[in-house]
Amino acid sequence: MISSVPSEKKRKTADVVVVPFWQDKKKPKVACASKEFETLVKFPLTSGDFHGKEGECLLLYRPQGEEKRVLLLGLGDQKSCLPDTLRRAYASAAKATRAKKLKSANILFPSTDLISWDIACRAVEEGIMLASYTFDQLKGESSKEEKHPALQKICFCGLNKEDSAALKKTATIVDSVNFVRDLVNGNADDVNIDTFKKLAKDFEKKYSKVKTTVLDKKALEKEKMGLILAVGRAATRDPALVILEYHGNPHSKEKTAVVGKGITFDTGGLNFKVSGSGIESMKCDMAGAAVALGIIQAAAELELKVNLISVLALAENAIGPASYKPGDVYKSHSGKTVEISNTDAEGRLVLADAISYLQENYPVSQMIDFATLTGGIVIALGEEATGLFSNHDELAKRLEKSGERTHERLWRMPLYPEYKEYLKSSIADIKNSGPRKASSGSGAMFIEQFVKKSIPWAHLDIAGTAYLSELKPYHPTAATGVGIRLLVDFLESI
Ligand code: BES
Ligand code: MN
Ligand code: ZN
Repeated sequence: MISSVPSEKKRKTADVVVVPFWQDKKKPKVACASKEFETLVKFPLTSGDFHGKEGECLLLYRPQGEEKRVLLLGLGDQKSCLPDTLRRAYASAAKATRAKKLKSANILFPSTDLISWDIACRAVEEGIMLASYTFDQLKGESSKEEKHPALQKICFCGLNKEDSAALKKTATIVDSVNFVRDLVNGNADDVNIDTFKKLAKDFEKKYSKVKTTVLDKKALEKEKMGLILAVGRAATRDPALVILEYHGNPHSKEKTAVVGKGITFDTGGLNFKVSGSGIESMKCDMAGAAVALGIIQAAAELELKVNLISVLALAENAIGPASYKPGDVYKSHSGKTVEISNTDAEGRLVLADAISYLQENYPVSQMIDFATLTGGIVIALGEEATGLFSNHDELAKRLEKSGERTHERLWRMPLYPEYKEYLKSSIADIKNSGPRKASSGSGAMFIEQFVKKSIPWAHLDIAGTAYLSELKPYHPTAATGVGIRLLVDFLESI
């Protein structure tokens, strides 16, 4: 539960109060206006026990006051403080309170000339709320002790009416981030194609502005979507296309499309992912579809004044006697034939059919696809940025700006026409994979072959950013929910 009070004097009893400090040459400087803690912190500050380094935490106890515990939180050097510094630092405060199993906290904000108040508030809230996420569903009774429930009551001190409205909004956005995280962290067997269908239909019932259409296997056959059908052939659950429309602005003809790769598990198919190739993290391969679904939830909850259409391209890339075959040629919805040079390059196949169907049946003014598409993008950018490929400079720039503001960073990669050569087939119109070099580029170029030239399009390769191998300050589990904060910011900037 999240609340706020207009000043720190109005705060109520809690288990702990978080007080921010700047690191300074002589000794740490308190970063908020409060004088209340002066005597309490005197010795810790002069003794050298606490330096105020970014994320440093020191817990003090006191006999009286609204809280028995005071958590000193270091923010680092004031001059180099960025919004993401605040996210990271307050995330470590959230973790410190969890380690002590505290249930409620009062949070004091820093004031800094470098960052405007509303941006600083938002960053602090995001840091705490994003870091408070837990995923304990798969833990059994015996490890109950390890289950540290996050803070149950958080009160932000010093927020006026406007700030509190923004606080609520941030909480709503984080809810959608966590919705995506839950889907991606969940077992591949539990978060399957039927799960997505059901969630999408539930959204239609829950939100009056949302309309859901499900294309099951029969419909895919009728529409001649040969690629998604091929990828999903060997699985026990049939592939599907799930389409959600959100009508938030009836006065506008603009319609932004979000297309998501939804491979609920990627074995690689007959080009099986051998051990060491990361097969054990391939439940994350539906992260794109999870974002496409999550953004509909966020838009509906926030009542964004935009029109959105999300397309979830759902299939399981399974291995078995029915698997689609390397070397065979399959016909796409667009009519182009595709030689399968590698069954592990399946994401681009389901996206190609989804994009082609979308363009033919809906008026779309711009299109963004999210896909855990290539290992190559992880080699290029690590887990620090999403790869951005686009046929439209203005769209790319606007996305990059949103990436900076949310710190869901994007790095633009080239779509050189030469990459098309990598995908030349001697027996079909195109093949689905090229050489190892620039594999993210040729992957993007494959998708581009199915995008109408007249539609501004961006492809976001989130293979590195959707599911972490090493946790980050405000990403306490592998799944990050990347894309939601980015898209909300992007849609609001329209
Ligand atoms: N789902 C994988 C990409 C991936 C890798 C996602 C690491 C998340 C983390 C994708 O389907 C894949 O297997 N890509 C191949 C393409 C290649 C065969 C052209 C790759 O990148 O190796
Ligand atoms: Mn694959
Ligand atoms: Zn994949």
